[in-house]
Amino acid sequence: MTAKLLAISDLHVHYEDNRRVVEALRPESDGDWLLIPGDVGEMVSDVEWALKLLSERFATVVWAPGNHELWTHPRDPVRLRGEERYRLLVETCRRYGVVTPEDPYPIWRGDGGPVAIAPLFVLYDYTFRTGHLTKEAALEAAYESGVVCTDEFLLHPDPYPSREAWCRARLKITEARLAELPGDLPIILVNHFPLIREPTEILTYPEFALWCGTDATAAWLRRHRVAATVYGHLHIPRLIVQDGVPHHEVSLGYPKEWQPRPTAPGLTTILPQSATAADTD
Ligand SMILES: [Fe+2]
Ligand SMILES: [Fe+2]
Repeated sequence: MTAKLLAISDLHVHYEDNRRVVEALRPESDGDWLLIPGDVGEMVSDVEWALKLLSERFATVVWAPGNHELWTHPRDPVRLRGEERYRLLVETCRRYGVVTPEDPYPIWRGDGGPVAIAPLFVLYDYTFRTGHLTKEAALEAAYESGVVCTDEFLLHPDPYPSREAWCRARLKITEARLAELPGDLPIILVNHFPLIREPTEILTYPEFALWCGTDATAAWLRRHRVAATVYGHLHIPRLIVQDGVPHHEVSLGYPKEWQPRPTAPGLTTILPQSATAADTD
């Protein structure tokens, strides 16, 4: 059977029903890879449980951090914050051979390859905002309307002065990494947050877009040979094709979100590319 490049994000394994979904995830062939762009869970032990299990089943597992992994949750005995917490998660992944944004980008050589698989950690900087509002005014409006991401309380940017500053540092590091790749090698970007703002345009609460990405990454789609992007965070699984590039949101999401869907939860195939993903709009 042809090996597949598969993806799922936002496993949120704190929920028992989601754990059962994870336990049922299996490759279709020995060569299948699995991309997991973040929000596996909040507790380090939960993240470890899921990644260990999946690393034993899939030929290669690739992870990028979500905002939930970066929370210092009051119930998590691991009290590390910010960069230190991220580094611990990276070390945890490495224990099971899971590829992180700190590792060399693996090359997928199956159907649709060769293509570099680039897990990213670039966070957000509040630039996904509408109109001509400043960041401060947009945040004030969000607080007034009661739409405030929990990150404001639990995602600590230490040692950076702000999440925005951490995002700027990550953009710089990531740009340098992407620039090292051969110019003719296609790349699949794997990031918790969407790399362009269009996916956030259908959010029920538009203010939430502030915590959903950065306008700085859109230029990467023009600068590099991006074959596709794979993201989560919005909990709105779908495929959009923008300027010929397929953007796959692969979230599982919370039980109350996925249980009413007509299809059973499962993995999204990124490669081999479907006819839908090859369509341009
Ligand atoms: Fe999530
Ligand atoms: Fe998220």
